[in-house]
Amino acid sequence: MKKKYYITTPIYYPSAKPHMGHAYSSISADFIARYKRLEGYEVRFATGTDEHGQKIQKSADKKNLSPEVFCNEISKVFLDLTKTLNLSNTDFIRTTQEQHHKTVQKLWKILEEKKFIYLSKYSGWYSVSDEAFYSEGEIIEKDNNKICEVTGSLVEWVEEESYFFKLSEFQNILIKHYEDNPKFIQPASRRNEVMSFVKGGLNDLSISRNSFKWGISVPNSKEHIVYVWLDALTNYLTAINYFKENSFWPADVHIIGKDILRFHAVYWPAFLLAAEIPLPKKIFAHGWILSGDEKMSKSKGNILDPTEIIDEYGLDEIRYYLMKEVMYGLDGKINIENLKNCINSDLANNIGNLSQRIFVLTNKYFSCKVPDPKILSTNDKKFIEYSMSGLEKSMNTFEIHNYIREVISYSSKINKFVNDEEPWTKAKNSDPRVGTILYVALNALKNIFILLHPVMPSKSEHYLSCLNIFPKDISFESIKKNLPINRELKMPGLMFKKYI
Ligand code: MSP
Repeated sequence: MKKKYYITTPIYYPSAKPHMGHAYSSISADFIARYKRLEGYEVRFATGTDEHGQKIQKSADKKNLSPEVFCNEISKVFLDLTKTLNLSNTDFIRTTQEQHHKTVQKLWKILEEKKFIYLSKYSGWYSVSDEAFYSEGEIIEKDNNKICEVTGSLVEWVEEESYFFKLSEFQNILIKHYEDNPKFIQPASRRNEVMSFVKGGLNDLSISRNSFKWGISVPNSKEHIVYVWLDALTNYLTAINYFKENSFWPADVHIIGKDILRFHAVYWPAFLLAAEIPLPKKIFAHGWILSGDEKMSKSKGNILDPTEIIDEYGLDEIRYYLMKEVMYGLDGKINIENLKNCINSDLANNIGNLSQRIFVLTNKYFSCKVPDPKILSTNDKKFIEYSMSGLEKSMNTFEIHNYIREVISYSSKINKFVNDEEPWTKAKNSDPRVGTILYVALNALKNIFILLHPVMPSKSEHYLSCLNIFPKDISFESIKKNLPINRELKMPGLMFKKYI
């Protein structure tokens, strides 16, 4: 039986259409899901939309639509984006689905039975845009408005009856968990941030609202709906049907953006601990895609639309650029100039040029069949026998950018090998070494395209199909198997354009 792996993206607010920041979260999770499949895991990969709460209700009101109709429309755009981005997700959860309502109510009842919920009154600050409660110490005044100092979002004063979760009881248990499991929150800088927040003390958390209706009803209550973050976080259990069959829980990793760390690394584990449900193994918080120096976001009006850029430059190119150029875990600026440079140098000049030359030469001298290498020197073998240890090390800490850098440098080495060996000159003298060089380069190409599969699935599959390797055989195991001599190959055609 295959080992199991469960990875999730945040579920997105369908309050507006997706932008590059959302695409980034999903593409990075897709990279990891695909990488794990190549390692031989059975992967569940869940994503979806977070449809309840005041933020969505307000966005629907503005358009004069019911929240149901509004969510159906925009959730569909997020669903379509999973196809546009070629995500390999196995699940797409909408929090408006019946199955999810049941999971949330079940979790609520468990928390209630275990006496972690009580009724009281909330009076304090609330940000609709973050759907978050903030303490007095987190609020500052700017231009006569009260805002949250960290997120910059407007807050409003809320006073209403509310159910509370006894979060304060979990301070020491959470700190112990972070200390005993140093890799629970990654990168390390984020872990420190959470640690100091929790050490600063935890107040009980309001987990219901009763001033509007768009949400999941609190069991046995007519007035209250479940706080949208308790509702949303529970999607991770819904997606794998935790209360019916829990073979994929605990999640191996929740991929999130750094702005939603508190919810995932403090509230979520506390809810789970209270319900005696095992904790996810890891929370990984990536940085922000910046436009100029600011977070790309709809409210700032500085968004890049992923579908427009993909139409212009190609999906695998964009995936490659985002995963290589933005160091995973840190913020990264993206712009079209850099995107073009990256495509030109890594894809067109390096990988594209290498594959073009090797296929053309194999076609010319060996009728497009894998040549017999005759004698392979130790040095030749080094180019083919690729050790995964460096890549595995990068992936242990999700340094996706380093993974890609290593693969591109492998491709550069093969390009240099071909340049140094000059098979085109040797062919003029009928030197038998030509077959060896092309055999080495073809096998290296096979390895390169397998290694690139997590980032460029469709280009990789195309090239591999020209080498007669089909999706079911794309795995890291296939790196160890050389192409059979005399195998007939197909010409891939020109796959990477150059941009000026
Ligand atoms: N609905 C919540 C998540 C609930 S998960 C149980 C939410 N939604 S969101 O649509 O606002 O954001 C979803 C994800 O997109 C977050 O991880 C956020 O960090 C990410 N991004 C939104 N803008 C971003 C950038 N500019 N850059 C990178 N990711 C950012 O929060």
